[in-house]
Amino acid sequence: MSKTLQAIRGMNDILPEQTPLWRYFEGTVAGLLDGYGYRQIRMPIVEFTDLFKRSIGEVTDIVEKEMYTFEDRNGDSLTLRPEGTAACVRAVLEHGLSGGGQVQKLWYMGPMFRHERPQKGRYRQFHQIGLEVFNLDGPDIDAELIVLTWRLWKLLGIRDAVTLELNSLGTSEARGRYREALVEFLTAHLDQIDEDSQRRLKTNPLRVLDTKHPETQAVLVNAPKLADYLDDESRVHFEGLKARLDAAGIPYVINPKLVRGLDYYSKTVFEWVTDKLGAQGTVCAGGRYDGLVEQMGGKPTPGVGFAMGIERLILLLETLEQVPESISRQVDVYLCAFGEQAELAGLTLAERLRDEVPGLRLMVNAGAGSFKSQFKKADKSGALHALILGDDELAQQVVGFKPLRGQGEQQNIAWSALADHLATCVVQG
Ligand code: HAM
Repeated sequence: MSKTLQAIRGMNDILPEQTPLWRYFEGTVAGLLDGYGYRQIRMPIVEFTDLFKRSIGEVTDIVEKEMYTFEDRNGDSLTLRPEGTAACVRAVLEHGLSGGGQVQKLWYMGPMFRHERPQKGRYRQFHQIGLEVFNLDGPDIDAELIVLTWRLWKLLGIRDAVTLELNSLGTSEARGRYREALVEFLTAHLDQIDEDSQRRLKTNPLRVLDTKHPETQAVLVNAPKLADYLDDESRVHFEGLKARLDAAGIPYVINPKLVRGLDYYSKTVFEWVTDKLGAQGTVCAGGRYDGLVEQMGGKPTPGVGFAMGIERLILLLETLEQVPESISRQVDVYLCAFGEQAELAGLTLAERLRDEVPGLRLMVNAGAGSFKSQFKKADKSGALHALILGDDELAQQVVGFKPLRGQGEQQNIAWSALADHLATCVVQG
C-alpha cells in the first residue's frame, strides 16, 4: 500500500469549520485599518535570500537557523519569507513609494515561514497581518499604531487578556555604546553565563538580555541598563509615546529586557502579550526601524510597524470564547426541489432571489433525493429555513417556507413575495 500523503509538520490546513473565524478576524482587521487610512500592499512570498540577511540580520535566530532557503533553477538563492517588513521595504524602495518624504501607511497579510520547533501557537507556516509606516519620525505615529491595536482588541473582545510591553532601544549610536558596556560586563562574568549566551555575546550581545537561563538572568540583575544609555533624542521620543498612551488611557508595562529578535529596530519596541496561550504568548509585536531603509540602499527614511500572529489571535478568541455565534452559520436558506420540473423552476427562482436579495446565502439542493434525505441535508447545512418546491407548489407558483430552527409553522409564499420575505433572513454584515 502506498504511504498516505501528509502536510509538512508545522504547516497546517485551515479547514472549512475554521475559515469563518479566520474571515471574521481578517475582515475585522481590514475594516479597522480602512478606518485609519491604511492601504493594503501584497508582496511575493519568495524573495532573494540576501534581502532577509541584510535586513533581519545575519546573526539572528531567523537568518541563522529558521529560513526555508533553496536554489532555484537559475542558481539564485531564494527564501520563503520569514516575515513581512523586509519585503515591504524592498517593495517601497523598488517602486519609489517613499521618495520625496512621502508618507506611506501600509498593511499586508499572508503566510510567513520559519523552521521553528512546532508547538501550540508556533508553526512553520503561520500568518501575519503587518503594518508599516514610512516617513513619520515622531512618537505620535508609534502611538497611533498602538491605539489602533487597542481598539482592535476591544472589537474582538480580548482587551482584558492582553498586556502591552514597551521599551526603547535608542538610536544605533546609543545602542552601540550600551553594547560595549554590556559586553565588558558579561565578559567579566563569562564563567557564570550559559553557553548560548556566551555565543550570543560574540554575535548579538543584546539578545543575551532575553535569555531564559536562570543563572544568566541572575548575572544580568547587576548588568548595565539600556535605559541609562539612551540618548536625549530617544528619551524624548519615548516620553512622547508614553504621554500619548497615558492620554489615550492605554495601560503598559516598561520591560527593559524587551530587545526583539530582529536586528533592524531602534527607539520604540513593543509587544502585546497574553498569559492565556502558554509559552507562545506574544500575539503582536513590532517597533521603529529608522535605519533600515537606508541600510537597504534607500535614502534615510524613518519607519515603524508591527505584525500580529493570526493563529495566536484566533486561539485566543477560541480560548476566551469570543467567537461570535453568527459566524458559524453559513447558509440562510436551503432550497429543496422534488421532480425534474420543480428542479428547473428552482434553479431560475434561486438565481432571481440572489439578484433581488443582496447578501442572501442560499444553498440549492444538488443530487435530487427523497423528501427525507433533502430535509436531512437542509438541516445539516445549518440553514434557518427550507424552501420547498414540488409539483403542487409549482402549479400554484408558491414555495413552502419551513422554519428549520425554533418556532413557526410551514406556510406557502407566492414567488412574487418571496424576495421581501427572505430579506428578513439575511444576516447583516
Ligand atoms: P515577529 O515578532 O518575528 O516580528 O513576529 C510578529 C508576530 O508573528 C509574533 O508576535 C507572533 O504573534 C507571530 N509569529 C511569529 N512567529 C510565529 C510562529 N512561528 N508561529 C506562529 N506565529 C508566529 C516580525 O515579524 C516583524 N516583521 C514585525 C514588524 C513589522 N516590526 C516592524 N514592522
